[in-house]
Amino acid sequence: MSDLPDRHLAAQYEAFPYPARDPREEAKRLIIGSPSHLREIDHWIFGSRRPASTPLRALFAGGGTGDGTLMLAQQMAWAGRPGEVTWLDRSAAAHRIAEARAATRKLGNIRFEAGSLLDLPGSGLGPFDYIDCCGVLHHLPDPLAGLRALTSVLAPGGGIGLMVYAPHGRTGVYMLQDALRLLAPEAESPPARIDIARRLWRQVPETAWLKRNPWLTDHLSGGDAGLYDLLLNPRDRAYTVPDLAALVAEAGLRIACWVEPVRYDPDAYLPDPRLRARTAGMTPIERAALAEAITGNMGIHILYCRRAEEPEPERPWEDPEAVPTLREMDGAALAKGLPRDGTLPVTFDGLRVNLPLPRLAGAILQRVDGRRSLGAIADELAANGIAREVFWRDLAALRQSMEAMNRLLLAAPA
Ligand SMILES: C[S@@+](CC[C@H](N)C(=O)[O-])C[C@H]1O[C@@H](n2cnc3c(N)ncnc32)[C@H](O)[C@@H]1O
Repeated sequence: MSDLPDRHLAAQYEAFPYPARDPREEAKRLIIGSPSHLREIDHWIFGSRRPASTPLRALFAGGGTGDGTLMLAQQMAWAGRPGEVTWLDRSAAAHRIAEARAATRKLGNIRFEAGSLLDLPGSGLGPFDYIDCCGVLHHLPDPLAGLRALTSVLAPGGGIGLMVYAPHGRTGVYMLQDALRLLAPEAESPPARIDIARRLWRQVPETAWLKRNPWLTDHLSGGDAGLYDLLLNPRDRAYTVPDLAALVAEAGLRIACWVEPVRYDPDAYLPDPRLRARTAGMTPIERAALAEAITGNMGIHILYCRRAEEPEPERPWEDPEAVPTLREMDGAALAKGLPRDGTLPVTFDGLRVNLPLPRLAGAILQRVDGRRSLGAIADELAANGIAREVFWRDLAALRQSMEAMNRLLLAAPA
């Protein structure tokens, strides 16, 4: 039996399947993101050691209108990767849209299942090598029960990609949710509540924190579905890093990586050696918690998890056979545009970080095309007079910055 907010939640996603998508748009673009990008799964979950020829069984739990499902299924189809992507959600309206989007793309590697992710244990579905649960756990009556249900159908050696809300970047949201609970009670119809929310947004004073929060735009550009999801949602809770680490641990999982890793590294913001001396003594969770607390701009957490008892796979960065690849970046173009001061400026939700780059950054990136192996790049540079040990040293330094950006990854072996 679901509780009352959960019934309201189910009604919300029937009235406003999320996110709002028009299947005709599939002809123009593929929506790409994290988690669940095929290259990220290969790298962060499987340590770039699981052969591309091994079929991948993936589940999107609470798949909604299909953004993640379509991304992964399309990337697998384009790369000729065997396997199947299962979409699971209890919203019939979202189901229709996700299926129409898949049909527009002529994807034959998606299976659609209607139902609750809480019923996964004993459902006969699975096991899955990879499970995506994006923007769902924080709405559930019992997120831990949800995460445990997912873990129950996770295959050995597999992993889970999660997205949940984080509090600081959502500053202002919960105040207006409180206001709307008073002005537009949940018992009213969704269109009536939307009307009140729009009227309120036009009149809230400038001091309302959401007016001052530049990172959230769902209520401005996400249509009715976005507005409802942000301000009228019957239940959403935001997790700090320590809250989330505790949830993951209680479900028998371990965090393999935060996305993007550099955002969760306090040293990226704190060059003072006296502060660095203190961060050096912290656990990985404490370091991530510190980064969250000082940046103040994280509105979501994206993370990859694996079973707690399984060892973290060593990524083969020192293996000449390993093939480096860039996520949505052209190595040659990137190499051309590198600043001359030896740093790469990157911005995360208004937060600027300068990542140090080694001398050979351009020469290496120019050759990263997803086909050449590390050994082949070392050979080409050696032919240009660059000693192999210098290549491997600079590669390690380049990795330090660009793997941490979630951009330079290692491909799955053939
Ligand atoms: C905010 S949407 C996220 C959709 C999608 N994962 C994405 O990121 O684009 C939340 C989705 O979770 C689904 N959902 C909520 N509770 C669920 C449950 N117990 N079982 C299956 N789906 C659920 C809703 O129907 C809705 O489609």
